[in-house]
Amino acid sequence: MKSLTGISPREFARRRRQLMRMAGDDAILILPAAPERVRSHDTYYPYRQDSDFWYLSGFPEPEAVLVLVPGRKHGECLLFCRERDAERESWDGARAGQEGAVDDYGMDDAFPIEDLDEILPGLLEGRTRVYYHFGRDAEFDLKLIGWVNRVRAQVRHGAQPPHEFLELGHLLHEMRLFKSKDEVRLMQRAADIGMRAHLAAMRAARAGVPEYVLQAEVERVFRAEDACPAYASIVGAGANACVLHYVANRAAARDGELVLIDAGAEYRGYASDITRTFPVNGRFSKEQRALHDLVGAAQAAALAQARPGVPYEAGHDAAVETLTEGLLRLGLLKGRLEKNIAEGHYKRFYRHKTGHWLGLDVHDVGEYRIDGESRLLEPGMVYTIEPGLYVAADDTRVAAKWRGIGIRIEDDVLITDDGHRVLTAALARSADEIEAVMAEAT
Ligand code: GLY
Ligand code: MN
Ligand code: MN
Repeated sequence: MKSLTGISPREFARRRRQLMRMAGDDAILILPAAPERVRSHDTYYPYRQDSDFWYLSGFPEPEAVLVLVPGRKHGECLLFCRERDAERESWDGARAGQEGAVDDYGMDDAFPIEDLDEILPGLLEGRTRVYYHFGRDAEFDLKLIGWVNRVRAQVRHGAQPPHEFLELGHLLHEMRLFKSKDEVRLMQRAADIGMRAHLAAMRAARAGVPEYVLQAEVERVFRAEDACPAYASIVGAGANACVLHYVANRAAARDGELVLIDAGAEYRGYASDITRTFPVNGRFSKEQRALHDLVGAAQAAALAQARPGVPYEAGHDAAVETLTEGLLRLGLLKGRLEKNIAEGHYKRFYRHKTGHWLGLDVHDVGEYRIDGESRLLEPGMVYTIEPGLYVAADDTRVAAKWRGIGIRIEDDVLITDDGHRVLTAALARSADEIEAVMAEAT
């Protein structure tokens, strides 16, 4: 089989089986592929498959619907997809067709997408529960309601329409939260490419460089490694680093400023998510270094909580405590530690959370809390640890020397049986390490 997924057909089959087992024999599960999206008039954004659809099929085409029918005698895994079409394929590239869906993607059976309307009501009939992502695609929601209504219309003739409608993500996203060996291998590769890209940007830095030139360095490395940006790359010089989702990337980095780059590669569907903050001229000033050291200490404190059995939120709490202590020590906050934490005064400088799950989606799926409590970390989970400090350029409540400094340090962490592995550990992180890397470049 031609695998562009990096995941074996066996693993895809195992995932589908596991999901069907959880859903039960009277269920049906329906997952449409991501729609193509117009960028401008008649040109489209590069196609990105829906992560759930991909996780279960590895099928890269639009206009497809995966239907899982546990226990169905004539086949449980069905794919509706485009037919082969020599004329269309000469414009848009090869299609798998129904034969490819069975031979290359391990489906039990496949049908032309045009036949969905005709076939789906028959598959729904006799199944009590429908698992589906309601509310994600309004057009498909309406189609599904239409198919269910077609079965309902046949009740007098003995048809049994489904009567429970459940959120598919509830089962599927719990599976996706725990990464297999092969997934970790792909995530390490995404991390490796991301690290190389950050290194290239640090090496290309010089006073006056436009942010987009550094972005180009980062994304050149992504493409050269058969990857793409996992999200819009953030390259913020000086006070632009304080804009959390800054993506304009159009200013020049002036001598003496820091540059914050938050950029990660997507490789075979899996994201890395990395932030480094470095001085454009290669040397941290005293204040820049003091805040950078503090963010590094907060990250170390959060990382010390990265092991099985510890509540996910313990990492954030540890980072907040370290940051608040440091802000008091440096004079950016005043008063008692407990009060500053309890009343959230640190939020003036640290507005976001310390991380998120990472996987096929950069902000990956999976619950953070269970029954109102932070869930405990378990082996196979991957998440980011990304504390930061952002002093607004116009914050006159702090000494002028601190203003306009924005710093974040973000790494990707796998929970292992006995602790953790930092997938992005090989990239310069501390002020000393960054200065050393940048000194080599000149
Ligand atoms: N790059 C998005 C984030 O760090 O969450
Ligand atoms: Mn992140
Ligand atoms: Mn990030």
